[in-house]
Amino acid sequence: MRIAVVGSGYVGLVAAACFAEIGHEVISVDNDVEKIGLLKQGTVPIHEEFLPELLARHRGHRLSFSSDLRQSVRESQAVFIAVGTPSTELGDADLSYVEQVSREVAQAIDEYKIVVEKSTVPVFTSHWIRRVMLLDGADPEHFDVASNPEFLREGTAVCDFLYPDRIVVGADTERCASVLRQIYEPLTSGDYYKREGVIPNVGRVQLPPPIIVTSAKSAELIKHASNAFLATKISFINAVANICEAVGADIKEVCDGIGSDSRIGRRFLNPGVGYGGSCFPKDLKAFSSVARETGYDFRMLQEVMNINAEQRSRFLRKVRSALWTLKGKKLAVLGLAFKGGTDDIRESPAIEIVKSLLKESCEIRAFDPAASERAREALCNDNVTYYRTAYEAADHADALLILTDWPEFAQLDLPRLKAALTYPIVIDGRNLYDPAAMAAAGFIYSSVGRPDVQASIVRQNDKPEKSAIATPGKAQ
Ligand code: UGA
Repeated sequence: MRIAVVGSGYVGLVAAACFAEIGHEVISVDNDVEKIGLLKQGTVPIHEEFLPELLARHRGHRLSFSSDLRQSVRESQAVFIAVGTPSTELGDADLSYVEQVSREVAQAIDEYKIVVEKSTVPVFTSHWIRRVMLLDGADPEHFDVASNPEFLREGTAVCDFLYPDRIVVGADTERCASVLRQIYEPLTSGDYYKREGVIPNVGRVQLPPPIIVTSAKSAELIKHASNAFLATKISFINAVANICEAVGADIKEVCDGIGSDSRIGRRFLNPGVGYGGSCFPKDLKAFSSVARETGYDFRMLQEVMNINAEQRSRFLRKVRSALWTLKGKKLAVLGLAFKGGTDDIRESPAIEIVKSLLKESCEIRAFDPAASERAREALCNDNVTYYRTAYEAADHADALLILTDWPEFAQLDLPRLKAALTYPIVIDGRNLYDPAAMAAAGFIYSSVGRPDVQASIVRQNDKPEKSAIATPGKAQ
């Protein structure tokens, strides 16, 4: 198949590379001429596991880059729209980029093609795309519009694309559905997985993945409802974590207990500083707004958002209660990205927390394996210094805050960390450590939904004590 993917952001670029990987001829299109130039030269603009390998493997063969949308559409049988759908000030999705692309596609279409929404869009978008294309002169016999939502997560996007739990295709005609079935056939038949040199399956999905064919409207709703449900799961467990803190229970034990019910599941039940990123915050607002437009007040979503915002304030209260006063304190911060495995800082809880600490006149010593450059641009503050390792960031800091769940942050050399810090205080917003182990290593340790612990030390350089004092029920 010849495919054009319009938009070379996280979703578009990964989709383009993966379509090439499963055997299609792909043109990745973007109106950012500079970006296209860099992609042609081999630059990989985002931090995403396996993406550099795929781009290197297919660039110049099955994958090309272009800023000429019309020509790319003419050369393709399927056009995927993966441009941004940011939030407007009112919280609904700004679909102006989708509209603009649809108009240009309409003007380029000269034979039957399918136009597929890949961006996260509200229900009825496929209807609107069809309408603007007809108004812009496209022959109704020359196109169908489909919705093919993407469920990839940043950081594991390539694996999520190639090893999906399911593929959802929202198509209102059989002709359109059959083109999409053909596109995904290398995955749904299992053929791709038998090839040599395939990207390894690091997930846990059953293969081959099922394809679910629905109406376009249902597919649009599946995407919004999936993200809203996952965000709800996170806020739910954060709320339960807050009760755990009040009564001295352990949220990990609670999560393992409820997550082992297969109807609930253990994934996305990790409490922390709240969800962030370019999807959940934006999609929750957009879904809420869609519901309102249909006449339904989806109040639960507002509460999910409230709990999420509160989770950051609660973390700041923990910092305050561990350090007493904040002015002038040197704080080591591990993690600036909105989650581990990515350099994306959009709606990052870590960035929000750092901003609040800067307002309290703290000095921030930050380390993130991938997101420092982006954070530097976003924060633009002389009171933040960026380091190359966690230990450098911790050097002479008054406390260490863990804000992003990078796997390497869970494997720090604890004696070395303790020696670097002025005071052995760790406030862990991602529950990366076992409280008892932290106490045994001589730390005063606070996390989310678990009792705070503190080794019975008051001075630096004391020998680590064997016993830890748990302080359950501490109100935050
Ligand atoms: C999310 C969805 O997981 C994808 O399925 C979807 O395709 C994507 O949005 C999208 O709409 O494009 P993503 O935003 O990349 O993916 O990241 P997630 O892994 O879902 O994490 C989102 C936020 O929730 C992060 O801040 C993460 O740290 C937080 N989180 C996640 C928790 O606080 N607890 C958890 O148990 C899981």
